[in-house]
Amino acid sequence: MAKEMNRRKFISLSALTAPLFSFKAIADNTIGGKPIILSTWDEGKNVNAAAWPVLSKKGRALDAIEAGAVYVEDKISCCVGLGGNPDRDGTVTLDACIMDEHANCGAVAGLEQIKHPLSVARKVMETTPHVLLVGNGAQKFALQNGFTKEPAILSEDARKEYESWLKKNEYQPTINIENKNQNGPFAPVFFDDGSPNHDTMGMIAMDTAGNLSGGVTTSGMAFKIHGRVGDSAVIGAGLFVDNEVGAATSSGVGEEVIRICGTHLVVEFMRQGYSPELACKKVVQRIIKRDPAKAKTIQVGFVAMNKKGEYGAYSIQEGFVYAVKSSVEDKIHSSKYFYKQPA
Ligand code: GLY
Repeated sequence: MAKEMNRRKFISLSALTAPLFSFKAIADNTIGGKPIILSTWDEGKNVNAAAWPVLSKKGRALDAIEAGAVYVEDKISCCVGLGGNPDRDGTVTLDACIMDEHANCGAVAGLEQIKHPLSVARKVMETTPHVLLVGNGAQKFALQNGFTKEPAILSEDARKEYESWLKKNEYQPTINIENKNQNGPFAPVFFDDGSPNHDTMGMIAMDTAGNLSGGVTTSGMAFKIHGRVGDSAVIGAGLFVDNEVGAATSSGVGEEVIRICGTHLVVEFMRQGYSPELACKKVVQRIIKRDPAKAKTIQVGFVAMNKKGEYGAYSIQEGFVYAVKSSVEDKIHSSKYFYKQPA
């Protein structure tokens, strides 16, 4: 405990003296300035591009997040939106959440046949006294609010994955689903149209006014039990925003993130003075400590940004990547990690 406090004092002291010494002394993170948006996985680069017109015109971070989500939900891909991998019954069910700079938040879980779950989550946030709507209730609410029902047809990729899964019927999450394919364990997967495969889409942004918002959208864990809800619909697990401190989002096995209120914890560590990367690392370490054997078999990654526009990430396994767009960069970063993947 005393050691932790000393460390924190060092971090705060270093922050004050940083101009005199190396910035590296306080944190291994990067400054992106504002506006800035971070999104998970390779596909995050396209998501950031879709969100950027809002941010570059001094728009609100919340609107940028929704623009990014609409873009990725419109694509037919295996992990986000209606083209996503189905549950064990062959049904695609979607989870999403959103949170703004005033700690307003909304979420939907187990939503079927609605193309834009994050926009429904925003409606929940802005027009109801509630935070989370699930299943049939969420769908009814969406339909009452102008969303339309889409046909429940599995995308070609999802159908193939599901049929191959049915043969074994084993439940083993895929680590770095984005980066798995037959060309090598961590070579990127591309669909026929050239678009990359990806996992949960988590986004956090800071606008020109310095306000933070975030959102997450996903079809959740492939071949889950019907009714299972992941971290992407749970505020404090898959997403947390505190406009005084920072924001964080996660990707990977949602159960492990929910268990420790993962992104809320990341933000609390940033409140204590940890850099975004170190805050993410401490939370990953907590997941590993709880069940080291299990942690070796799963992926969880966190991405965080503080109020100064500094950002960082940390994951259990090698292979987690995230995209950053600001006025000074537009690139994909590899997250620091705990376990190196075998070659
Ligand atoms: N992180 C997405 C999920 O577990 O559903």
